[in-house]
Amino acid sequence: MGGKIIVGTQWGDEGKGKITDYFSDKADIVVRFQGGDNAGHTVIVDNKTFKLHLLPSGVVDKKRSLIGAGVVVNPKVLLKEIEIAQKTIGKIDLGVDPRCHIIMPYHILLDTSSEKSKGKEKIGTTSRGIGPCYSDKAARTGIRFEELIDKKRFKANLKKHYPLKRQILEKVFEVETPTEEEIFEEYAPIGEKLKQFVSDVSIEVHEALQKNKKVFFEGAQGSFLDINFGTYPFVTSSNPVAGSATIGTGIGFQKLKSVVGVVKAYTTRVGEGPFLTELKNDLGEKLREKGGEFGTTTGRPRRVGWLDLPMIRTSKRLNGLTEIALTKLDVLSGLDEIKVCVEYKCGKKMLKDSPTSIQSIEGCEPVYKTFKGFEINNIFKKKEELPKEALEYIEFIEKETGLPVKIVSIGPQRNETIEEK
Ligand code: IMP
Repeated sequence: MGGKIIVGTQWGDEGKGKITDYFSDKADIVVRFQGGDNAGHTVIVDNKTFKLHLLPSGVVDKKRSLIGAGVVVNPKVLLKEIEIAQKTIGKIDLGVDPRCHIIMPYHILLDTSSEKSKGKEKIGTTSRGIGPCYSDKAARTGIRFEELIDKKRFKANLKKHYPLKRQILEKVFEVETPTEEEIFEEYAPIGEKLKQFVSDVSIEVHEALQKNKKVFFEGAQGSFLDINFGTYPFVTSSNPVAGSATIGTGIGFQKLKSVVGVVKAYTTRVGEGPFLTELKNDLGEKLREKGGEFGTTTGRPRRVGWLDLPMIRTSKRLNGLTEIALTKLDVLSGLDEIKVCVEYKCGKKMLKDSPTSIQSIEGCEPVYKTFKGFEINNIFKKKEELPKEALEYIEFIEKETGLPVKIVSIGPQRNETIEEK
C-alpha cells in the first residue's frame, strides 16, 4: 500500500490530528517529519480527549509511532506526553530519530525575547523555541537527540554552544538565564529516561515501505506556514508541505502513493500575517466559539474567515495533493448563507492562485460565491445522506480544485466521519 502523507492546506489547525487518527486505525506506522511542540493535535476517542503536541497521533491507537529527523524535540514536553499517554492508554510504541534537534531552554528564551523586541512587528509565535532551534540546526550549532542521551557529549556540546547564546540573552535582551550546570542537571536525567526510545527512523520507515506496509506521514502546521512557500515572514521555521515527509524522515519518494490535503470548511489563522477572507465581525466570533477555535498549544483565539479556494489550489500544487479531507463542516451548520472565496481581485488582475509574497496580496480583494446554508444535526454515514445544500458546497470545492473530497468530518468524534471508498 505504501505511504500516505497527511498535510494541512491552510494555516494549520485544519483537523489533521483527527484525520490521521481516523486513518491510523489502518496504519502500521505513523511518523511525524517536521515542526515540534508548536503543533497541537486534538484526538477524541470514546469521549476521551487527547491533546498531543509532539507525539504522533498513532500513539492513541497503540501503533508504532515515530518522530523523524526533521522534527525539533523539546525533551521535557516529550517526556511529559509519554508519561500522560502511558497513564491513559498504557504502553506506547515510540521511536525517536537520533538526528532530531533538541529544543533547549535558551531557545525558548530567545524566541520570547526576540518576539518582545519586535513589538508590533512580531510574528506571533507559539513561544516554543521553534525558530531559534531550527536556526541553530542550520547554523550547525545545535544539539541533537543522540547527544542528549549521551551525558558526556551533551555536556561537551552545551559547553561549546551555550556561552554565546547566554551572552546574547543577557547582554542584548537583558534577560536572566540559567547556568550551564543547571541546564545539564535538569536535562541529562531526561535524556537518560528518553534513551530507550531512540531508533533510526530512516531505516525503519524505509524497510516498512519496502515490505509494502502502511505508513502514514503526519504533517504539522499548514502549507501557508511553510518557510519557503508560506506568507513569509509570518510563517513557522520548517516545511509543512508534503515534500518534507521525505527529507524529514530520510526516505525516497517512490513509495509515497497519496497526499491527503486536510481542508477546514472555513479558514483560521493564529498569530499575525495577512488573511484576505477574515471575518472581523459577530459572525467570525460565532464561528470561533462554535468551532472551538482557540489554539491547542497557546489557547490564543484563532482568527476566522471564509474558505479561500485560491489557497487550496495553491496547496494542491505545493503538495501534489491527490484528495481532500474536508473537516468541521458541522461548524457551518445553521448559517443562513455561506461564502467561499473563488478568486482574488488584485487591481485589474483576477488571480485563481495565491500570490507569491505578502506584498503582492496587499490591496487584493476576495471575490465570493454565496451558498445557501444547511443543517447538520445527524451522524450521517454516507455523503449522499448529507443535506442537498451541503453537497452543493462540497461539489463546488471538488469542481474548483479538481480534487475529490474523499472524507468529510462532521464532528470531533471518530464516528462523525464520512469516507467515500
Ligand atoms: P512558531 O512555529 O512557534 O515559530 O510560530 C510561527 C507562526 O506559526 C505563528 O503564527 C504561529 O501561530 C504559527 N503556528 C505554529 N504552529 C502552529 C500550529 O500548529 N497551528 C497553527 N499555527 C501554528
